[in-house]
Amino acid sequence: MKLILLGPPGAGKGTQAKTLVECLSVPQISTGDILRAAVKEGTPMGVKAKGFMDAGELVPDAVVVGIVEERLRKEDCANGFILDGFPRTVPQADALSETLSALNKELDAVVSLEVDTEALVSRLAGRRTCKACGAGYHIEFEPSQQAGICDKCGGELIQRDDDKEETIRNRMSVYLEQTLPLVAYYEKTGVLARVDGMLPIDDVRAAIFDILQVAE
Ligand code: AP5
Ligand code: MG
Repeated sequence: MKLILLGPPGAGKGTQAKTLVECLSVPQISTGDILRAAVKEGTPMGVKAKGFMDAGELVPDAVVVGIVEERLRKEDCANGFILDGFPRTVPQADALSETLSALNKELDAVVSLEVDTEALVSRLAGRRTCKACGAGYHIEFEPSQQAGICDKCGGELIQRDDDKEETIRNRMSVYLEQTLPLVAYYEKTGVLARVDGMLPIDDVRAAIFDILQVAE
């Protein structure tokens, strides 16, 4: 399965990718997660990316295109992948298309998760992520059993640096300007499917499985 999850910040791309990975046995490729890991490790790429991420701006295309090209060539992508947060600009989508052609692969689906702006702000403000294993929660919609502690590994739950209200608003406008055009881009190629991302998490998952015609 070769899938793109498209959607604004907080739409549920990461949440859905994590459950799809378990059922589809293909890796989640989240450019946001890869960049955050590079920032944490202080690699040259991380140092370069940090300023853009803290401001809610996109990291330059050349950097992310390079990351994804390298990642798609790894053995675990032989049966497919779930792209989460990539592509985000038309040049990134064009680069992906070239890479897939070179690898003799074609996208099966691009799922566009559609969510109201007000809901996105509350989703991002309430999001918590495990510092140790990366599991995702929401203080209201997907709470951990014990506040601040990961159910899966007991790690500390933290808030992402770019989930401050001011940065959230910039991420939204960057999305509208640079990423939303990709909905029309993929609609033209006939692989786009829209999903109501306002539904509860399990219903969104069921809708995606329906589109992919895969049993849960
Ligand atoms: P990235 O990490 O990709 O962030 P994003 O696109 O802003 O998306 P989020 O991760 O915030 O949201 P999500 O859709 O994954 O939502 P989630 O499932 O967590 O990118 C971060 C930064 O990295 C960018 O700003 C940029 O600087 C850089 N970057 C990354 N990729 C790049 C690229 N390709 N090019 C250039 N720069 C790049 O859900 C959010 C919350 O809502 C959670 O708490 C969850 O529990 C809850 N939730 C989820 N679904 C539901 C539901 N159906 N109902 C109720 N609550 C829900
Ligand atoms: Mg995410």
